Amino acid sequence: MQADQDQPALRHVLVSGGAGFIGSAFARNFVRDHPEARVTVLDKLTYAGNTQNLAPVWDEPRFRFVQADICDYDAVAPLVVEADTVVNFAAESHVDRSIMDPDVFVRTNVLGVNTLLRAARDGWKAGGYAGKRFLQVSTDEVYGHVGEGATAEDAPLAPRNPYSASKAGAELMVFSYGTNFGLPVVVTRGENTIGPYQYPEKATPLFITNAIEDKPLPIYGQGRAVRHYVYVDDHAAAIDLVLRRGAPGEAYNIGNDVEVNTVRLAETILDLLGKPRSLMQLVPDRPGHDYRYNLDYRKTLALGWQPQYADFEKTIGATVAWYRDNQDWWRTIKAGEYQEYYKKQYAVLAGA
Ligand code: NAD
Ligand code: TYD
Repeated sequence: MQADQDQPALRHVLVSGGAGFIGSAFARNFVRDHPEARVTVLDKLTYAGNTQNLAPVWDEPRFRFVQADICDYDAVAPLVVEADTVVNFAAESHVDRSIMDPDVFVRTNVLGVNTLLRAARDGWKAGGYAGKRFLQVSTDEVYGHVGEGATAEDAPLAPRNPYSASKAGAELMVFSYGTNFGLPVVVTRGENTIGPYQYPEKATPLFITNAIEDKPLPIYGQGRAVRHYVYVDDHAAAIDLVLRRGAPGEAYNIGNDVEVNTVRLAETILDLLGKPRSLMQLVPDRPGHDYRYNLDYRKTLALGWQPQYADFEKTIGATVAWYRDNQDWWRTIKAGEYQEYYKKQYAVLAGA
């Protein structure tokens, strides 16, 4: 832990990966909630990035978008120097893709984070680190499968798939820059997040959009794996709070208490859309499937986090409604590169 407890300035926040699902919610909400602050979104625009996710803030004078790769030091460094805060969402984020092709996960999630850290360490050094923050957005998956009980922030990291291993590697790099160089770093570890603008490869938007299209909902194994589903605006609010009140050198869990297995997730979605449960189709299990995560998130509550969507029915209801009402957004995605991925990942489904 570091002694440095100074307050972050938050005059200019660099949001890397801010054209993705959670990063765009954070950027939209941050522009709205901090009328004095400037926000620069840096994003490579991989298959998962989409500037449409930023449409509500695009014309705001305090907002700027820059297309760049977090692995490109020369592109990143001037953007970091201009800012006093980095909030890093940029990542390859889907477990199934990490099992197919781990390399890009190591590149972006580990090397890219090191590049951002190096840019912050070197770029902010001359002016001192007071008022600066580097927040790394991490995941509950770094704890690995949790058989029973709940993991608090001091639990050992035990990731079991290439995605979570790369995210754990990133965290360790982040903390090492705090320990060795005095960079004021914080880490958040969020549970599964759902809501508007989530790329339809993750279970929830995949199930919702398939159900709307009367296509099968692929359930891995027996569908008994357990997750907790946090609404995206609650996740973004927790990150905003940790940025302002979190102690440098610390990690903060972001979660809730409602355990939902995959069958319940699928059934709830089908019921909300008035679709038959016969659309659920059991498919071979994900290798190395983590069957349960469960966070002890009292440390984040103690900072003052007040989630608005603690109830699963409300969370999934709002999410289903958004996909029902914004079909142009996801139908465009599903018509593109997505189809190649879908065929490869779900070859077992007839007509995938
Ligand atoms: P996402 O896949 O929707 O977005 C990732 C964004 O990063 C995209 O806009 C993409 O273009 C960008 N990106 C990827 N590689 C890049 C690179 N090399 N340089 C610059 N930009 C790059 O992901 P998400 O679901 O919004 O997740 C955001 C962060 O939150 C990730 O770090 C993820 O590990 C973490 N997280 C996600 C969840 C979840 O349930 N989705 C839960 C906990 C933590
Ligand atoms: P996912 O959204 O990929 O998130 P996680 O990173 O937590 O694995 O998957 C959520 C749960 O749903 C997880 O237990 C795996 C399961 N799942 C399916 O059963 N079928 C699917 O097609 C997908 C993508 C996930």
